[in-house]
Amino acid sequence: MKADAVKIDDDVYWVGALDWDARDFHGFAVPGMTYNAYLVFGDEKIALIDNVDSGFFPEFWARIEDAFKQEGLDNIKIDVLVQNHIENDHIGSIPELLEKVPDVEFYCTAVAAAGLKKQIHSLENQEMKPVKTGDTVDLGGKTLTFINAPMLHWPDSNFTLYNEGGILFSNDAFGQHVCESKRFDSDKSDSFMELHTRRFYANLVSLSSMLVVKKAEEMVEAGYLDNLKMIAPCHGQIWTNPQRAIDLYTKWATGQCDDKITVIYNTMHHSTQKLAHSFCEGIMSEGVEVKMHFLQFSPESDILADVLDSKAIALGVPTMMNGPYPKVGNLMYYFNATNMATIGDGKKAVTFSSKGWAGGAIKKLNESLSVAGFDVLEDDSLDIKFAPNDDELDLAYDLGKKLAQIVKD
Ligand code: FEO
Repeated sequence: MKADAVKIDDDVYWVGALDWDARDFHGFAVPGMTYNAYLVFGDEKIALIDNVDSGFFPEFWARIEDAFKQEGLDNIKIDVLVQNHIENDHIGSIPELLEKVPDVEFYCTAVAAAGLKKQIHSLENQEMKPVKTGDTVDLGGKTLTFINAPMLHWPDSNFTLYNEGGILFSNDAFGQHVCESKRFDSDKSDSFMELHTRRFYANLVSLSSMLVVKKAEEMVEAGYLDNLKMIAPCHGQIWTNPQRAIDLYTKWATGQCDDKITVIYNTMHHSTQKLAHSFCEGIMSEGVEVKMHFLQFSPESDILADVLDSKAIALGVPTMMNGPYPKVGNLMYYFNATNMATIGDGKKAVTFSSKGWAGGAIKKLNESLSVAGFDVLEDDSLDIKFAPNDDELDLAYDLGKKLAQIVKD
């Protein structure tokens, strides 16, 4: 097959793969994905940074062939392979790659090496050189420095800095799950970049927010960011404005939120839905931004992205069998797993519900939100019977207004 490499800097090429059809990545709803890999041509050695998912090797190899052609080189020779992370989306093509270039020096963190041998059994006897922060590889006129980044987002995660070019190959960090025909941040709007970077952060990085702050400080202190020109992640668009990416990560990692409320609701017979809509009107009356998520249809990954930069949430779920209508259980799992309610000053939460007979949803919702770290305004919970009448809809409106005023204070 034919596929072009994209030159992103002198002697540096994007040689990744475009997964136009991906819609789900282990529960993360995606509008397609990219698996970014990069070639750096030194005077003596050529390095390949990262790989692509299984099934994409023909496209990946075609781009590698094209990069060599653009460099005026007839024979493909890869001397150095850097594997920054070993989740499946970045390693599937390694066996096919090694059939083509078996003599590479293979660099990754020590835990990545151990994990890779368990993930891909044919690599059991592959020699791998473990890298620590500050280790370098000389490509001839170009050097790569490794920066271990454990838990950003897995224990094996690593960044690789191409020093002379000022390019940070950050693997998952600073990525976005999108699939676009152009490669750079400047090819898309700022709001596109902010939204998709936030979705990625909320779902995959927020758990490690404290480590994001620490790693940023460590990298500044070591001077790794002094000449930074580009951040080239393994997913999505390449940042030609790296400071924008760093500013966004700093904002979310320190829990800076907008005057924004995310309302999440589900419904059985439209009663809780009516409360949610009225609640939303109350928020809007105060000029506060509100995002509405109908839980039955909104992917959890979208909800988390909005909760991340909201000061408060409202959760409306009807009662079914003495507890909350069940789909909310998935969301609670993600609230707990991502820890996002506890970053910075935390987030407030209120709950509302409609019930037929005994009720029970509110108590359980409040307990679960508290466990997840939300500051639950329990005394403000709204629990109504059957369909809300006008007075009850007004109560929901007033509650939305009250929460908006709290958010503005
Ligand atoms: Fe893109 Fe953690 O894999």
